[in-house]
Amino acid sequence: MSSPAGHASTGDFDKVIVIDFGAQYAQLIARRVREAHVFSEIVPHDITAQSVRDHDPVGIILSGGPASVYVEGAPELDAEIFQLGIPILGICYGHQVMAQALGGVVESNDVAEYGRTELTVEAGSEILRDLPENQDVWMSHRDAVSAAPAGFSVVASTPDSPVAVMESRERRLYGVQFHPEVGHTPRGQDMFKHFLYSVCGARPNWTHVGIIERSVEAVREAVGDAQVICGLSGGVDSSVAAALVHKAIGDQLVCVFVDHGLMREGEAEQVEATFGSAFHMNLIHVKVEDRFLEKLAGVTDPEEKRKAIGETFIRVFEEVAASIDGAQFLVQGTLYPDVIESGTKDAAKIKSHHNVGGLPDDMTFELIEPLRDLFKDEVRAIGEELGLPEEIVQRQPFPGPGLGVRIVGEVTKERLDILRAADAIVLEEVRRAGLYHELWQSFAVLPAIRSVGVQGDVRTYAYPIVIRAVTSDDAMTADWARIPFDVLERMSSRVINEVPGINRVTYDITSKPPGTIEWE
Ligand code: XMP
Repeated sequence: MSSPAGHASTGDFDKVIVIDFGAQYAQLIARRVREAHVFSEIVPHDITAQSVRDHDPVGIILSGGPASVYVEGAPELDAEIFQLGIPILGICYGHQVMAQALGGVVESNDVAEYGRTELTVEAGSEILRDLPENQDVWMSHRDAVSAAPAGFSVVASTPDSPVAVMESRERRLYGVQFHPEVGHTPRGQDMFKHFLYSVCGARPNWTHVGIIERSVEAVREAVGDAQVICGLSGGVDSSVAAALVHKAIGDQLVCVFVDHGLMREGEAEQVEATFGSAFHMNLIHVKVEDRFLEKLAGVTDPEEKRKAIGETFIRVFEEVAASIDGAQFLVQGTLYPDVIESGTKDAAKIKSHHNVGGLPDDMTFELIEPLRDLFKDEVRAIGEELGLPEEIVQRQPFPGPGLGVRIVGEVTKERLDILRAADAIVLEEVRRAGLYHELWQSFAVLPAIRSVGVQGDVRTYAYPIVIRAVTSDDAMTADWARIPFDVLERMSSRVINEVPGINRVTYDITSKPPGTIEWE
């Protein structure tokens, strides 16, 4: 496949680049900048001054990092970047890198300064403008700047950081030891705004309407008169991508919904209702449950199951795609975090299972990735703006192989129906308790064991249902959710009473690690 085309051209937006020194904070900074309606992009710390110039940013932010500027192999920055005349805000490690590069002194402290601390503003500063003289900020560092470089003034301090904020107004260089991007620094967003608007002169035009307009233009330009295919799963990303491309090119888009029979209750109907009836899209609903069940017959190994589902999905999609005359482009719901994770050195590797549904290399489509520049919360907001129903836009993640990875042992029609009914009850009760948005995921699992029970004087020997509910920020780690007992109780009694074939309900109290979120 050739390289992607058609994602929002960002040329019309003022851009701030966030130079990533390897901490998890870079994404948070980039999001804060966007929340201030300024476009931001994350770049690795070995970026050259020339490459920064090519990005043509109105400002640069240096992120925090896990390292000390003194350890061997500590991430460095091309010093010429400080000479470009572009405003720079250094945060934590970025503050120290700036101080060191420009002739200041960074010292290793014996004690780390970690957590909430009080910042005292000592002199007027653009980025601290209108902020109280004393305020809480969040610190997480061991090294500290003990002397600012020549030409810089120290404008704020904390008990353990004599140079907590330094600046050279003339050169428009600013450094802060604390983390303005975290919620524990309550006035952090004000500081970003001052930096973005007053120092960098950035225009706040990265709005949802603005993003949609630019994406629509970009898709039209990339596609021309050609036909475009979109694999629609009903998940947030493919749904928003489809709605956006549909807004751009209408009937030139054909959406393919491969209904493998491993969906949750009501899901296929909702896809039909939303995209077929409400949006009037060209929707091909391929009902291939039998084909998947045939492939899954007798398969109990989790990896084999995933493989069988993934391969069958691809075969079906290929067949449908081949039947659509003139289709040259394929829509993918790739998001910005995927792009960052595959592109920058210091971020963790993307998980391979997120590529399920990825298509074979010999398919000759060009990719359209309209969400490539967006974070998940932006995608949701845009979906709402485009008129997608809340149930789709705010939906909890659902794995590509569907209920197939929530049935331990063989996947059969009978077991799918049992799980689907129990899962619907779990979700209904979660919603009723107002917990749906608080939970990262909540669902039912059907294990391959049976146990003895008694119902109405009759001895039963039936399957249990496991309830799984977790909180998480990114699915890399997760905590089991402390669901109130009365909610669990309602789930339990309803599942037992309403779902034949179940005689026991358990709650999974395993976090990730050591467990994974899904059971397979
Ligand atoms: P685990 O089970 O590894 O899952 O903790 C982490 C997150 O990824 C989702 N998941 C998948 N998503 N295709 C997907 O698109 C898959 O094959 C897949 N497997 C797991 C899972 O639901 C959770 O959000």
